[in-house]
Amino acid sequence: MCGIVGYVGPQNALDVVLEGLRRLEYRGYDSAGVAVRVGGSGGGQLASAKKAGKLANLEKVLADQPLPESTIGIGHTRWATHGGPTDRNAHPHLSADGRVAVIHNGIIENFAALRAECEAAGVEFRSDTDTEVVAHLLAAVYPELPEGPGRLAEALRAVSRRLEGAFTLVAAHADEPDTLVASRRNSPLVVGVGDGEYFLGSDVAAFIAHTREARELGQDQVVEIDRTRGLTVTDFDGAPAEPVAYTVDWDAAAAEKGGHDWFMLKEIAEQPQAVADTLLGRLGDEGDLVLDEMRLSDQELRDIDKVFVVSCGTSYHAGLIAKYAIEHWTRIPVEVEVASEFRYRDPVLDRSTLVVVISQSGETMDTLMALRHAKDQKARVLAICNVNGSTIPRESDAVLYTHAGPEIAVASTKSFLAQIVACYLVGLILAQVRGIKYADEVAVIVRELQKLPEAVSQVLGQMEPVRELGRSMADAGTILFLGRHVGFPVALEGALKLKELAYIHAEGFAAGELKHGPIAVIDEGTPVVVIVPSPRGRSLLHGKVVSNIQEVRARGARTIVIAEEGDEDVVPYADHLIRVPRTPTLLAPVVTTVPLQVLACEIAATRGYDVDQPRNLAKSVTVE
Ligand code: F6R
Repeated sequence: MCGIVGYVGPQNALDVVLEGLRRLEYRGYDSAGVAVRVGGSGGGQLASAKKAGKLANLEKVLADQPLPESTIGIGHTRWATHGGPTDRNAHPHLSADGRVAVIHNGIIENFAALRAECEAAGVEFRSDTDTEVVAHLLAAVYPELPEGPGRLAEALRAVSRRLEGAFTLVAAHADEPDTLVASRRNSPLVVGVGDGEYFLGSDVAAFIAHTREARELGQDQVVEIDRTRGLTVTDFDGAPAEPVAYTVDWDAAAAEKGGHDWFMLKEIAEQPQAVADTLLGRLGDEGDLVLDEMRLSDQELRDIDKVFVVSCGTSYHAGLIAKYAIEHWTRIPVEVEVASEFRYRDPVLDRSTLVVVISQSGETMDTLMALRHAKDQKARVLAICNVNGSTIPRESDAVLYTHAGPEIAVASTKSFLAQIVACYLVGLILAQVRGIKYADEVAVIVRELQKLPEAVSQVLGQMEPVRELGRSMADAGTILFLGRHVGFPVALEGALKLKELAYIHAEGFAAGELKHGPIAVIDEGTPVVVIVPSPRGRSLLHGKVVSNIQEVRARGARTIVIAEEGDEDVVPYADHLIRVPRTPTLLAPVVTTVPLQVLACEIAATRGYDVDQPRNLAKSVTVE
């Protein structure tokens, strides 16, 4: 996700801000920019520089055209969401008169309406971002407010009240020599308090080199940092608020990982946010879906008579889950295939085929080749992708971005959950547009989707016994994973995570296949992880999986059972029981996957392996 830095104090702001951005590089970004405020208390100005690509590109621009020394500065590393990763879309964004500079992390859901309002007032936009609208709105509000202390904060409060979605915003004004303001809703922001200086950061890594004294902001709050008046926090209506003070006890390296030992653990912890952000801005007022950004017309969606889902590795497993949901909700046949096979077997495709390609990186060569083949055959291609501006969405007819934020660990976790959610959205929009489901039926499922972030948080809160279990399994020679229905792809994903991280032989099976061969490998003590479907609604399936647990246990397996709360049938057969919240059957993979990620991570760490960079693997596989 975007990195945000702000500074007010006696040091040269540009140096502090650039150093902060360097420390936030781990968050992943595709462009960077800075702005400083120069001049005395009368007649100040803002100066800014921004550039697509790595920080080195920005530093080159700054070397050619240095910015003046200043005591106020803001900096941003951007992870593109609205608008591609270009120079003009990089932050900061300035108001038309150049008096306001804004940086932003998050998604402003109602930006289109606000942009139309600004354009109607004669503003010409210079970027494709949702952020720029904030700079123009602030510039419009500020002159209407009384001069004096707190004016910029009041302007930001007024603008923040009008915004929907998730945002951390930091703003500077040319007329404010000592002040920066920031606001937050559903997006991170921390304040660093130094000796006569103040810092803003998307996380403490931004300022850890200067101070360990931090303040945590609450939801829907605005903070003002001022060289003379210090720190003032209010809610969006101006009521004073007290930020939570804490001392950071991490060093700089740990701070980048948010205090977690591994990026993978940090990314696992970010999953509630990844799921929530992937739903953000896609739900209409009536509980229906609005996926305008997808660029497929209703008629094109109605014409589809067959769906292929094509992807690799973990993204392929998301595709397998998609099949269950899309077929069930739309009654359109869905085939799922690994990209490297799809391309070379001459699949039957035509204009009425929708090919959904799923890729976290957007650069996987196998998937790209499959996409090109599908387009050659005149099929419609929809990309589900996490990296804005990458090749796969660029070459696709339509795109639905997962908003999981950058994934640093090689093993995919939060983007997998976000991909599953995006697949549900594809299934539901097809059902909605084709009239297979009434709006109120779609709304019921959408409401269940909205509960998923909380359900994932609940699972994450109960992971200590799973870690302990992982430590006890570190010497296993083989670990098997069993599931049925949507639990089958989850079993495949659990096995893949374990193989790639812990280098242990692991396999996922459809539980019903067990008796057709795999059961022979079960020996005394072989760990078998079983993903149990809900006993509610799918009772037939549930009973069969309970029988499968008994079968493996009778042959000596050590059973690790993932079952929903209240499922008492599994209790007698579970050597270890991992509970997950009750979730509708089709949505269950979003919660049942999480313990498997944690298990694999813990086993790998116990075996002494580098969890973030497993041997032989690359994050983005750009060869066939
Ligand atoms: C597993 C993993 C890989 C990727 C696969 C596809 O944890 O990360 O299996 O899922 O290489 O990558 P993307 O989604 O970038 O196309």
